[in-house]
Amino acid sequence: MKKILVTGGAGFIGSNFIQYILNEKENILLVNLDLLTYAGNLENLKAVEDDPRHHFVKGDIRDRDLVNRLFEEYDFDTIVHFAAESHVDRSITAPEVFLTTNVMGTQALLDAAKAHWKLEPDNKYSWEYRRGVRYLQVSTDEVYGALGKTGMFIEETPLSPNSPYSASKASADLLVRAYDQTYGLPVNITRCSNNYGPYQFPEKLIPLMIHNAQQDKPLPVYGDGMQIRDWLHVKDHCSAIYAVLSKGIPGEIYNIGGNNEKANLEIVRLILKELNKPESLIAYVKDRPGHDRRYAIDNTKITSQLGWKPTYTFEKGIHETIEWYLHNIEWVNRITSGAYQSYYNQMYGSSLEANTD
Ligand code: NAD
Ligand code: DAU
Repeated sequence: MKKILVTGGAGFIGSNFIQYILNEKENILLVNLDLLTYAGNLENLKAVEDDPRHHFVKGDIRDRDLVNRLFEEYDFDTIVHFAAESHVDRSITAPEVFLTTNVMGTQALLDAAKAHWKLEPDNKYSWEYRRGVRYLQVSTDEVYGALGKTGMFIEETPLSPNSPYSASKASADLLVRAYDQTYGLPVNITRCSNNYGPYQFPEKLIPLMIHNAQQDKPLPVYGDGMQIRDWLHVKDHCSAIYAVLSKGIPGEIYNIGGNNEKANLEIVRLILKELNKPESLIAYVKDRPGHDRRYAIDNTKITSQLGWKPTYTFEKGIHETIEWYLHNIEWVNRITSGAYQSYYNQMYGSSLEANTD
């Protein structure tokens, strides 16, 4: 049986990944280490909370003792590292936690993987690792910076991050690369474009706009709204990560994207149309500082070498996503009221707290 340490599995993409694996794959045990920050929500995992193949541990990836204890208890062969501070706007107002979590947290996981998987951990010249182990860093297209009107990011595009968030993710990627180059740790890095779908925290563009439109509140569009993102359904991101885990070559970076570029304004208008709301709800607000104008991913490597391809068209994905938010209004309300944070305590009390003695 494969034993995967999934970090950040109570967040948007992590919880979708856990559901994807439990629904679609066999013979895999998932240990989900998540600190349950404002962005982590165990309600996202309600559908699988009784599944014995999923063990939840509340704890911090920066807690090296805890990570090592989990390695000893479960003997992982794989790490899929999602946990991060993920919101660009928050990184502009409070960058420090982005560095401690996204950079130092990544290093703590790399060190644990190296210590537990290396056959001669004390021999710095040895590159021998247990067979079949893999560390997968879930990164982002934002590390490449911004594009002009043309061009696409390929895996060799130089890193040029523009926000504290993307700088922290790029730093983490460089550490992962260094652990490959210096220690021979079997790693992969995936760099994905903007995800959308169920369970996304309503601070991000699509769920925020759906929520505001539903309530006839203004829809805050930054600047002229003509910034372009390449949107991918979260389930397609999950299947891409699994393709890299099962077929990716150690040391390789894989870009993941849906060939689906849209201007923000186009998405906002589409949401208003689906909800039958007037465009007068659009409110142009001051632009995000350092706002990247355009992202576009060239996904040739993962599609041609690993045989992965997205299954969702944007039309189908966005329609389903809007429907999901309409049917899960209570989930959104509990998040916006902060009530979800008490869900963990109601459900589990302190019984699942990591033992930090
Ligand atoms: P999210 O903010 O929804 O979830 C992050 C999760 O990490 C939360 O459950 C949170 O509680 C947990 N976490 C935060 N700090 C932690 C810590 N110190 N220890 C343990 N857990 C901690 O994020 P997301 O949108 O699901 O993104 C997941 C990963 O994918 C991130 O690494 C992000 O950079 C990357 N990514 C996101 C997108 C996107 O469009 N959302 C696209 C490409 C890559
Ligand atoms: O590209 C991948 C990245 O996508 C991930 O690495 C990040 O974790 C994820 O948050 C996302 O970053 P973005 O900054 O692109 O996503 P966000 O939803 O915050 O914004 C999408 C676009 O919409 C961006 O151009 C800013 C704009 N926007 C966003 C918000 C929240 C608005 O115009 N108004 C808003 O209120």
